[in-house]
Amino acid sequence: MTSQLINGVELSKHLRQELQHKVHALSAKGKTPGLAVILVGDNPASQVYVRNKVSACEQVGIHSVLDKAPATLSQEELLTKIDTLNKDPKIHGILVQLPLPAHIDAQRVIEAISPLKDVDGFHISSAGALMTGSPGFWPCTPFGCMKMLESIQFDLKGKHAVVIGRSNIVGKPMAMMLLQKNATVTICHSHTQNLAHLTRQADLVVAAVGVRNVLTKDMVKPGAVVLDVGMNRDEAGKLCGDVDFAGVSEVASFITPVPGGVGPMTITMLLHNTVLAAEQLG
Ligand code: GUN
Repeated sequence: MTSQLINGVELSKHLRQELQHKVHALSAKGKTPGLAVILVGDNPASQVYVRNKVSACEQVGIHSVLDKAPATLSQEELLTKIDTLNKDPKIHGILVQLPLPAHIDAQRVIEAISPLKDVDGFHISSAGALMTGSPGFWPCTPFGCMKMLESIQFDLKGKHAVVIGRSNIVGKPMAMMLLQKNATVTICHSHTQNLAHLTRQADLVVAAVGVRNVLTKDMVKPGAVVLDVGMNRDEAGKLCGDVDFAGVSEVASFITPVPGGVGPMTITMLLHNTVLAAEQLG
């Protein structure tokens, strides 16, 4: 079997066009959605991510503000910035790019963001809403994965989904979203024994640990769907995911590439959440 690609660039293009229409309609009513992005320090990967987020906003007509602060910024100063943005009527979404410098307590900062503006979906109240099936912002990366599954009309009911990774940003919310769609979900992590035994039973594997080649051809059931959330570099410095793409694409029915897979979808869902926040805040 040779897999079909789930193209995150193409799917994003389509979804961003729909969002652009919504943004125009909101703007016509004087309610242009606004996103504030705070970057603390000069982590090179974060700088690229933040630049991509701001330019995606421009592309669909969302007003964006980028606040670049030095790594020496104190936690109190960061909390003051968030307080100001919480009160700013032009700003509907607030995103603090992670990771933060070690002297700042990231969870404390996330909890300071108004849950109504938590477009990253990292606030404890957003996590609780997802856990209980209540309305709330969904974290953008697993939300993008769900949209990709929807695009191939993958019916999750009764399917076995294996999520490799248990981060608050991807693994745990991914598992909750899959569970909400009636999949049977297994969460694997660094202490999991016999990972291959579990992944071989899966109808869907989501790899989200940041370890190159964590999923190889021999670990995948023929016909399974594979989503690759990893962002790594190979020996030549080329961007690659967590999945051995060449091998796994010989057995999977559908697979996401890296780059051009989940990455663009993460940004698309950030735009989606920002538009939703603007609609809800009025
Ligand atoms: N760092 C890596 N991924 C993300 C993300 O989705 N949001 C934020 N704020 N920081 C990140």
